[in-house]
Amino acid sequence: MNFDQLFEPHLELIRRENRYRVFADLERRAGHFPQAFDHCLQDQVTVWCSNDYLGMGQHPAVLEAMRDAIDRVGAGAGGTRNISGTSHYHVLLENELAELHGKEKALLFTSGYVANQAAISTLAGQISGCIVFSDAANHASIIEGIRHSGAEKQIFRHNDPVDLENRLVGADPWRPKLVCFESVYSMDGDIAPIAEICDVAERYGAMTYLDEVHAVGLYGPSGAGIAERDGAIHRLTAIQGTLGKAFGVMGGYVAGSATLIDFLRCCAPGFIFTTSLPPALAAGALASVRHLRSSSIERDRHQERAATVRRRLLKAGLPVMPSESHIVPVLVGNPQRCKAICDELLLRFGIYVQPINHPTVPRGTERLRLTPTPLHSDEHIDRLVAALTEIWSGNRTQGCPAELTCLRPVERDSR
Ligand SMILES: Cc1ncc(COP(=O)(O)O)c(C=O)c1O
Repeated sequence: MNFDQLFEPHLELIRRENRYRVFADLERRAGHFPQAFDHCLQDQVTVWCSNDYLGMGQHPAVLEAMRDAIDRVGAGAGGTRNISGTSHYHVLLENELAELHGKEKALLFTSGYVANQAAISTLAGQISGCIVFSDAANHASIIEGIRHSGAEKQIFRHNDPVDLENRLVGADPWRPKLVCFESVYSMDGDIAPIAEICDVAERYGAMTYLDEVHAVGLYGPSGAGIAERDGAIHRLTAIQGTLGKAFGVMGGYVAGSATLIDFLRCCAPGFIFTTSLPPALAAGALASVRHLRSSSIERDRHQERAATVRRRLLKAGLPVMPSESHIVPVLVGNPQRCKAICDELLLRFGIYVQPINHPTVPRGTERLRLTPTPLHSDEHIDRLVAALTEIWSGNRTQGCPAELTCLRPVERDSR
């Protein structure tokens, strides 16, 4: 039996809807980010869509800590946290993250996705009668966690404390409640009204779970995120973050009370039954968190670069979508055109931006998602603005040349 015939219709549908994903075969050159070598083009490109928001993935302190850890303790962790996979690096990093967020304890997971999936499914699934109230724009990992918990859920309108309150008011006052939301929403770049959401949650005795994945390292005096910036850190029951974006390495975590973290440590399958992060990753992340707790230079420059890119694109008449954060979305509104623009940026201008299509964003809102970093120079910005202006004015979006098959969706096998 040819099992591929079971998979092919799914891929066919994705291709038909212009949602087929083509990965860029890039090699970042440490010390030269945002430049990278593109193995398809065999040329240098400038990356404009990385979530290594501050370039910490090449910071000397991070690289040195990782090299040093590998030399000392080797490559892998050697097991789950319970079975010989806890190293001193994990313990130090968890202590640092707890301090960063002003919480008693923190717990590491292998990624931000796993942290959400494991923590939310455990909280909502194992607390008897729990009802989850979830922002309509929450990330797939939060949605998966809620789904996996089997708990009753209510979806409130995006960033709308009034709608949240209308739902809470109708819920059984005796049942435990969990409000899940994000601080910075990564596709639109808008920011949650954390204090108002906490006001509502407190009125109805609901726990709050805040995903700060796109804010940790970037906002607040010590880089703890939007909750720190807004003075609301103490009001949140749990704060979740990643080590893979502004901190430049990999891994995820949840911070909260000692008892909450102990509960997750003992009850979350996504924490218990998997090999822990390699110690070198924990060491690199620790160096990154420590650096960004005491240095605001990267954060300040990051904000300035994002504001400059936004201002320059708007001045050039480009359809920049409103955003309150460091994320600069440019509306295209059509998946084929979005892919064609990205191909043209890469081929003609050596600029790498990934098209953002459905289901990551709603159909009709396909976009370029630009993420300026402190390492993008004025010259990089000049070239980006000139390229986008030319593409938009000339409407030249005919896609990629036939010989560059690595940029094309895979053709259906016609045998
Ligand atoms: C809001 C949000 N939460 C969680 C994650 C997952 O984080 P990680 O990339 O560390 O798995 C992402 C990833 O982009 C995200 O956007």
